[in-house]
Amino acid sequence: MKPTRHISVFVIAQLCIIGSVNCGNILVWHTEGSHWINLKPMLDTLIDRGHSVTVLVQSASVYMDPTEKARFSYEPFNTSISMQQMTDFFEEFIHFHMYEIDHLSYLQILWKGYHIVKREFKFSIQICDGLLRSETVMRRLREAKYDVLLSDPIYPCSDLVAEDLGIPLVYTLRFSIAHMWERLCGQLPSPPSFVPGAMVKLTDEMSFAERLLNFLFYATQDMMAYGYWQDIDAYYSEIRGKPSTYCEVMGQADLWLIRTYWDFDYPRPFLPNFKFVGGIHCKPAKPLPEDMEEFVQSSGDDGIVVFTLGSMIKNLTTEKGNMIASALGQIPQKVLWRLSGEKPETLAPNTRVLDWIPQNDLLGHPKTRAFITHGGTNGIYEAIYHGVPMVGIPMFADQPDNMVHMKAKGAAVIMNFNTMKTQDLVDGLNAVINEPSYRENALRLSRIHHDRPISPKDEAVFWIEFTMRNKGAKHLRVQAHELTWYQYHSLDVFAFLLAIVMLLTLLFIKTCLFCVRRCCYGAKSKRKTE
Ligand SMILES: *[C@@H]1O[C@H](CO)[C@@H](O)[C@H](O)[C@H]1NC(C)=O
Ligand SMILES: *[C@@H]1O[C@H](CO)[C@@H](O)[C@H](O)[C@H]1NC(C)=O
Repeated sequence: MKPTRHISVFVIAQLCIIGSVNCGNILVWHTEGSHWINLKPMLDTLIDRGHSVTVLVQSASVYMDPTEKARFSYEPFNTSISMQQMTDFFEEFIHFHMYEIDHLSYLQILWKGYHIVKREFKFSIQICDGLLRSETVMRRLREAKYDVLLSDPIYPCSDLVAEDLGIPLVYTLRFSIAHMWERLCGQLPSPPSFVPGAMVKLTDEMSFAERLLNFLFYATQDMMAYGYWQDIDAYYSEIRGKPSTYCEVMGQADLWLIRTYWDFDYPRPFLPNFKFVGGIHCKPAKPLPEDMEEFVQSSGDDGIVVFTLGSMIKNLTTEKGNMIASALGQIPQKVLWRLSGEKPETLAPNTRVLDWIPQNDLLGHPKTRAFITHGGTNGIYEAIYHGVPMVGIPMFADQPDNMVHMKAKGAAVIMNFNTMKTQDLVDGLNAVINEPSYRENALRLSRIHHDRPISPKDEAVFWIEFTMRNKGAKHLRVQAHELTWYQYHSLDVFAFLLAIVMLLTLLFIKTCLFCVRRCCYGAKSKRKTE
């Protein structure tokens, strides 16, 4: 054992013994793509605090590599899906959102989107099956005596595993479409009048037409969910051996760590077991590599622009690449552009194209004036953290909706990837760089982001440890989970009260009629006797 290793083991052992933290045994659910990127920093912090972390990984994982050297251990399991099927699925998903969606009608988008999600659930069930029906792996999990299961619900069944192991479950997620999981399964109140559904591209200030649209958005998504949750409901019932729904089992979770905060999201009502921890992965900038620093410094007072379209889009079509490159050539700033594949012909001397850039370190550099982004939450949060205004070129998933948030907060302009022209990009860049309001708003968001009692990462870690210490956090779960929809909305109480009011009214009318009749009759009989 090397001496440094010795010391760190010693320090960790000390942390476990004298710290107030009990050393927990944490199981982490498998995930993919940016979800995995988001989860990793949290795992690092948990390991730093002396916990042991084990990550489940399925055999067809595209993004997780169990042979990679890591500080946590992997628990691999086999699935009947091939790596090729998984890669093809991701590619089809991206192609649909990038190139097809603009040529389709709204109904076609709903139809195709429905089938994509339905297929994703089919894959997910196959993955669940690989784990839940593997006696070897399940036995190992039971024997390992985990204290908590940490899961991004994008892949289902973590709730079934937590139930089987008898351990608390903590979800960590950014959002679900129309807040379906949070709203329908987690009971998070989401009045459609002022909480725009995730992905609907509205702000919290809605006109009548927009409120109507938002209401219908929630309603159509709920109807679609009814369709694509059927298969998984059946699977959950089969595994649990009793009629169950996916949503009801999800609702058993102890805690929900939502990866947004009021710097990014609109204020909304929430429950005691929902914690908003947006910006978990953000950290101060480190110094740049020497040659990059030299390039950045050569920009003088004009500063630099940082440009990336995220980890899933590696290269562009030649035509798009040239269009963007010639726009970048027309601004006085220097540009660092993350792009692989063929270099555009129209590349100007002020632009440097690189396979990879240290995005966070560049965004935190004092010379950075703007960030051109696809609008993924990770990049947006880094820009908020460092107070950099944005030019958004959103493409798929939550990206368009994310950029609407940033535009509503005055920190970004939005471009349309499919229709934008060179001049649009030049104008957008000049606006966020030269109009002071964009920078001021970005700095304001940054101040809000930093000014909180505890950093988002520490808050997330606190709640995970809280759940382990207290063997769950069910005391934070609202009773709404146990109510039917008519009880939740007090419709039975209304019906009861209405019945009483009607009864009293009826009684009153009857009494009046009775009195009237009595009077008339009395008068008549009096006259008779006279
Ligand atoms: C997965 O399948 C491979 C090849 O069939 C096998 O060697 C391995 O033991 C399996 N892993 C688990 C965890 O069952
Ligand atoms: C990206 O590059 C790969 C290989 O380098 C190529 O097959 C693919 O067509 C490119 N994509 C686009 C959109 O140009």
